[in-house]
Amino acid sequence: RGSMTVGELAKLLHKDASEVIKKLIFLGVMATINQELDIETIQLVASEFKVEEVEVKIPVEEDDFETVEEKDEEESLETRAPVVTIMGHVDHGKTTLLDAIRSTNVTSGEAGGITQHIGAYQVEINQKKITFLDTPGHEAFTMMRARGAEVTDITIIVVAADDGVMPQTVEAINHAKAAKVPIIVAVNKIDKPDANPDTIKQELTKYELVPEEWGGDTIFVNVSAKQRTNLEELLEMILLVAEVNDYKANPNKRARGTVLEAELDKGKGPVARVLVQHGTLKIGDAFVAGNTFGRVRAMINDKGRRLKEADPSTPVEITGLTEVPQAGDPFMVFEDERKARAISERRSIKQRQSEMGANSRVTLDDLYKHI
Ligand code: GTP
Ligand code: MG
Repeated sequence: RGSMTVGELAKLLHKDASEVIKKLIFLGVMATINQELDIETIQLVASEFKVEEVEVKIPVEEDDFETVEEKDEEESLETRAPVVTIMGHVDHGKTTLLDAIRSTNVTSGEAGGITQHIGAYQVEINQKKITFLDTPGHEAFTMMRARGAEVTDITIIVVAADDGVMPQTVEAINHAKAAKVPIIVAVNKIDKPDANPDTIKQELTKYELVPEEWGGDTIFVNVSAKQRTNLEELLEMILLVAEVNDYKANPNKRARGTVLEAELDKGKGPVARVLVQHGTLKIGDAFVAGNTFGRVRAMINDKGRRLKEADPSTPVEITGLTEVPQAGDPFMVFEDERKARAISERRSIKQRQSEMGANSRVTLDDLYKHI
């Protein structure tokens, strides 16, 4: 599967094999009647014969990973680190808080590693890891969700105690609620003389975020990102929420995850920063990322360390891609590169088709049923 012979193609197009072979020669492909053609070539030939006005429907493949449900036996699941996003209004201190958490929690074993921007980072507290997506703000979150990627387990909403609940605070609350993820409120800038954390709590009750001491179930932590006050407490609260929700994944299978960021690096070529969500990603693994494919050549973590393997909730930067995927793209490992390539080709054709939309009316339908 994934191809058809010249003879089969000719039959489907109601043409002589010799006509198809002539077109192929015209396209620079030397082929015999029994030769297998790849999807790209099949499309080219089809369009040469002006079959492109027909709607091309590709049958949904069982292995098309966006349609595959994860079926894991309970006993195969292991606890994984929670994945946390920080959101909040402009200037309320998201970046400062992320930076403060990151720099206060470099364990001695990791000292000396050079911090890398890989779209997310991990900190360790009480021998437990927490993964933070390091693109603060709503854009990343909104875009990921728009693309169907659910990567966040917990949202921290930062509200500056000297400012109050602002439009983007409300937006953040709505995002978190829509994604059905638990919210922890970090009331920030409590070092400021005009800070008034209780006013914030009061305002947030309007959005059903009621602190425990007022009979609600929302965790509030007063912090100062600038002075690094109460950051440990905030991290402990994250671990508490994680423990209650018991986030798990099966590490013993092929990896699957989401592209957090990707770009073309001058030296390394296409690089993708990926959050592994299921299974374990290994050097040499063949994968599909969005419509692109590749084979993991090297992996580094947020401390600049080279990794051989990355288990669930680990963010890694990988090289070995053929092209640059998009943020929010699904990522999945397949048994070999051939398979990965075939899947990525299918995905790009599908995308082109949905972009062409209603304008495409070809019946290559038949054709693809046979590929
Ligand atoms: P955007 O990315 O623009 O949305 O802002 P942000 O939410 O990332 O805020 P950022 O971390 O850039 O902080 C904004 C300003 O508030 C900076 O000048 C910080 O130094 C200051 N700031 C952040 N946290 C605190 C804090 O705990 N106390 C005080 N006093 N200032 C803070
Ligand atoms: Mg910022």
